[in-house]
Amino acid sequence: MPGPIDPAIVAEVERLRKALHHHNYRYYVLDDPEISDAEYDRMMQELKQLEENYPQLASPDSPTTRVGAPPLSRFDTVSHSLPMLSLDNAFNDDDILEFDRRVKRQLNREEEIVYTAEPKMDGVAVELVYENGRLVTASTRGDGVTGEVITANVRTIGAVPLMMQTEGPAGIPDRLEVRGEVFIGIEAFKELNRRRIRNELPPFANPRNAAAGSLRQLDSRITARRPLDVYFYGVGIITDVVFESHWQLLQALKNWGFPINPLIRPQVTIGEVLEFYRQLSRRRGQLPYDIDGMVVKVDSLAFQQQLGSTTRSPRWAIAYKFAAIQETTVLENIEVQVGRTGVLTPVAHLRPIRVGGAMVSRATLHNEDEIEKKDIRIGDTVLVQRAGDVIPEVVKVITSMRSGTERKFYMPKTCPACGTGVVRFEDEAGVYCINADCPAQLKERIKHFASKGAFDIDGLGDKLVDQLVDRGMLKSYADLFKLDKVGLAAMERMGDKSADNLVHAIEGSRTITFSRFLYALGIRHVGEHVARLLAKHFESLPELMSCEKEELEDIPGIGSTIADSVIHFFNREENRRTIERIFDSGVRIVYEAAGDQGNFFGKTFVLTGTLKTMTRRQAKEALENAGARVSSAVSRNTDFVVAGDAPGSKLEKARQLGVTVIDEAGLQELLSS
Ligand code: IVH
Repeated sequence: MPGPIDPAIVAEVERLRKALHHHNYRYYVLDDPEISDAEYDRMMQELKQLEENYPQLASPDSPTTRVGAPPLSRFDTVSHSLPMLSLDNAFNDDDILEFDRRVKRQLNREEEIVYTAEPKMDGVAVELVYENGRLVTASTRGDGVTGEVITANVRTIGAVPLMMQTEGPAGIPDRLEVRGEVFIGIEAFKELNRRRIRNELPPFANPRNAAAGSLRQLDSRITARRPLDVYFYGVGIITDVVFESHWQLLQALKNWGFPINPLIRPQVTIGEVLEFYRQLSRRRGQLPYDIDGMVVKVDSLAFQQQLGSTTRSPRWAIAYKFAAIQETTVLENIEVQVGRTGVLTPVAHLRPIRVGGAMVSRATLHNEDEIEKKDIRIGDTVLVQRAGDVIPEVVKVITSMRSGTERKFYMPKTCPACGTGVVRFEDEAGVYCINADCPAQLKERIKHFASKGAFDIDGLGDKLVDQLVDRGMLKSYADLFKLDKVGLAAMERMGDKSADNLVHAIEGSRTITFSRFLYALGIRHVGEHVARLLAKHFESLPELMSCEKEELEDIPGIGSTIADSVIHFFNREENRRTIERIFDSGVRIVYEAAGDQGNFFGKTFVLTGTLKTMTRRQAKEALENAGARVSSAVSRNTDFVVAGDAPGSKLEKARQLGVTVIDEAGLQELLSS
């Protein structure tokens, strides 16, 4: 037993903690530090040393605990006590004026409404719960109703108070659910990417992805090394304290130690709101972080309550989004890529440039005609546009910037991957490599086959597919199911563990819905939507494979081109053989067509434990396709509980309530019945 600690040491530890909390607040919330960074670091070191010497003095609220905790195996989920809604969007001044009129109409008022206008941070929404002033839980927004618990990660963010400040006039509520946006500043983002490139890791596409990826680390010690920051903008449930306005609430949050964006425009008229938007749009490029618009909120909390919310978004707030942004940069080269259908696509390599918050270094040029039409030459200065998540595009050439050294581009006459002569079909702008064995096409077909909307094989990255094809281990997508751990572990950058995970992911993808299966095949003109139409119409694959063109054309939404393509695909001996091989390796299709409403219409299922032959998402999808509802909690209304490995408390609950319990084999049976 260690002896009692010298009271002077206890007092010193207390003093250092208090001082560090205070300086944190000066730095992150008031943006007005009283001491230098070096001084702060020195105090932190001192405290660390004392806590190391006297481990009995450890406290979960100590500023030294921001370094991260041991890794988790997965994230728990938590229900938000009030749903985290999203916002309606406005795209022009008229939309905002219409919003103002709607608010007045619903409140039955003629007078000007008071608003608060805030920059819309482009980061990741989080909710933090404080009990008696202590941070107890932090979670992501998730689907708005339930999020993932990321407390250990959020605790590593310097700007997050581990304890609320008590100095404010409002006292400390028993419970506070505070909401905000976690983000990474632009400079910190650039530095982070430089570090990643040095360490041969793929750089993040933009600060938002970097922030999201950092928050979803199972190992919070990694999160601790990411330069995360946060601004708070609202609350869920808050006890004990009553505010009159949103602005008052923000002030209280600030006093409690939560950073609030200093650019927020409090208590303004709708005219001033529009003025603020113009200011923000102008300043947007100079801000140290990304914003994607402005949020306008009715300031009076009584009015907010009166206006209420739809299931999707509050009626008292709206997001005024910025327009797509355009930037100019130099087109350094044009590369020709071969797609899975053999189409050759010219892709522009651009001098990297930030466009609307993302680094852009490539843009599609579609085809030769498009290049001709826009007269795009290698070396040109071009205007690039990125709208939302869409692939960046070259809008036009800035011809006044030409020096005369620009070179015209011609599509190659042979496939850049296999050297086969290319063909151009009548009425089509694209040219094609028609070599069925072209390795570039094969690679793309396999990537498509494994992609999210298809077999959804986690861990099969593009580089790995390239390697597997180059080394002759994959000659068609059917070969994926033959891959084994030893072969995979021999690939570059593959450890035993990732090889093992991938083998499991492939194993787990073997049960698949009919529509995903059809989409995965990569039939020309059969995207996710058409695949669903086909899966709904045909009761089985053999039925589809032996149908006539007329039957296909009778399906609403399917015309002659698609029908031809489908018939052509299934007529090819080679494709039939590949499909046979896929089934031989244990793939099973879950059919969706059976009956109009599905076999399980009105039935409620709960999944618990680990499934072996499919992921939970796939099981959920298969059940929903068959008309069932999949719920997360067992109740008297549950019809079936599906118990996988290590099922836990839901199984117990099901037994108590007398709900039918089936295992994975039982589920398979039900699904294929
Ligand atoms: S208020 C009920 N204020 O935008 C309304 N949201 O589309 C809650 N966001 O999920 C949102 N900055 O992640 C609000 N100043 C701000 C915001 C903001 C960014 C994000 C937030 C939310 C999304 C809504």
